[in-house]
Amino acid sequence: MTSSVPVSRPDSTSDRSLKGLHVITWGCQMNVYDSARMTDVLRPLGFVPVDRPEDADMVILNTCHIRDRAAEKVFSELGRLRKVREARAKDGRGTVLAVAGCVAQAEGAEILARAPYVDIVLGPQTYHRLPEMVARAARAGQAVIDTDFPAEQKFDFLPETQAAQTPGNLTAFLTIQEGCDKFCSFCVVPYTRGAETSRPVASVMAEARRMVRSGVREITLLGQNVNAYHGLDDAGEAATLASLMHDLSAIPGLERIRYTTSHPRDVDDALIAAHGDLPAVMPFLHLPVQSGSDRILKAMNRGHTADEYRSVVARLREKRPDLALSSDFIVGHPGETEEDFEATMQLIRDIGFAQAFSFKYSSRPGTPAAGAPMQVPEEIKDRRLQALQALLREQQDAFNADLVGRTVPVLFTGTGRKPGQIVGRSPYLQPVHVDGSVELIGHTVDVRITQRNSNSLGGVLVQERACA
Ligand code: 5AD
Ligand code: SF4
Repeated sequence: MTSSVPVSRPDSTSDRSLKGLHVITWGCQMNVYDSARMTDVLRPLGFVPVDRPEDADMVILNTCHIRDRAAEKVFSELGRLRKVREARAKDGRGTVLAVAGCVAQAEGAEILARAPYVDIVLGPQTYHRLPEMVARAARAGQAVIDTDFPAEQKFDFLPETQAAQTPGNLTAFLTIQEGCDKFCSFCVVPYTRGAETSRPVASVMAEARRMVRSGVREITLLGQNVNAYHGLDDAGEAATLASLMHDLSAIPGLERIRYTTSHPRDVDDALIAAHGDLPAVMPFLHLPVQSGSDRILKAMNRGHTADEYRSVVARLREKRPDLALSSDFIVGHPGETEEDFEATMQLIRDIGFAQAFSFKYSSRPGTPAAGAPMQVPEEIKDRRLQALQALLREQQDAFNADLVGRTVPVLFTGTGRKPGQIVGRSPYLQPVHVDGSVELIGHTVDVRITQRNSNSLGGVLVQERACA
């Protein structure tokens, strides 16, 4: 996913004391959240979001390191930004260039060696120090690098979220947990995001309440390993994701709760029960499995078997029969044979996924799998990925087709492209278009699905009146 956050160009850029900030975001939803928080942290310094790097006094490239050619992508984007900076310099305008995120964490020194024109390199744990880094870079006239894993928690030092307070923001991300101690063989996250840490319950609840007060109706709780959440409550006891969702469910006006990304190993009984007990918890779960072969799951250090995954899914579906699943798959992990790959295909057939993300294994330097024997040739990875994606596409089409004729609650979030049309989100995150009044925006209304398009659904309102 690639997005620019945020996108609006303020009228106030004509105000000389304000400075333009352009943030380019690559990677996961946590990066989207982080980009919004970096914007928040720079606001008191007079930075306001602008749409184009050409208008920006500071550009932040928030990077992702999870898969292939991450660093190369960064250097090519930096080359482009360098030209923008040179053009601005001709008009006497300076541009601070910052690289943030996981590539910055993993390759900080390399970035400054290969792109010495970069002013600031900062890892995901040091965003709260950004204002200081901007000041230091300006003062010293030389690059500042901060890829620490500081003892203080950045959340304690960040200002209150502004990002979710823009009128019309009905859905928001909220990071509750970061980092990972699982050390899957292929994954850089434990190295770039550091050890698993959870935000205290009070801090999460305060942010959620603020979001809801500003109009947010749906919150997605974020964490690299979100169901490993164990933030402390006021009594100093460790909470769980299930108990946190119980607390969140009690916030009036918060209609929908989601969480991502979870690990099958940390799906406990209480979490399964929460899916049945809490209507706000949406029946759509992203639960990465990576492979359906026990041998490969072991090599990946995933800590569970394929049957254990099947059993977790069965128990969840028992509590919430309308639960739909999404997952991540990797083909061509070192050592993967045809038989292993077939076991993954079988698991997909057994479970049935509404959506999925699938990747060819890419070697990440420093991870255990990178040096493992029996790397799988590229052509075999290609073939397996194609077969896997064809099956997943079939399942996704079948899932969408099955929705036609059914009635689902839709949270309306904005106007559609056609006049008279409004658009919202199904429980399964599909965009749904209907003919309806803009007054329904912000409300959840039952919609009968009448048609499926390539990336969205169409429907009709079951009742004109809003139910919230
Ligand atoms: N190669 C391919 N895919 C990877 N992922 C993580 N690391 C790698 C890698 N080295 C995928 C996993 C993970 C998702 C976010 O990215 O499927 O769940
Ligand atoms: Fe990476 Fe595994 Fe941790 Fe997920 S659980 S972030 S794949 S190490």
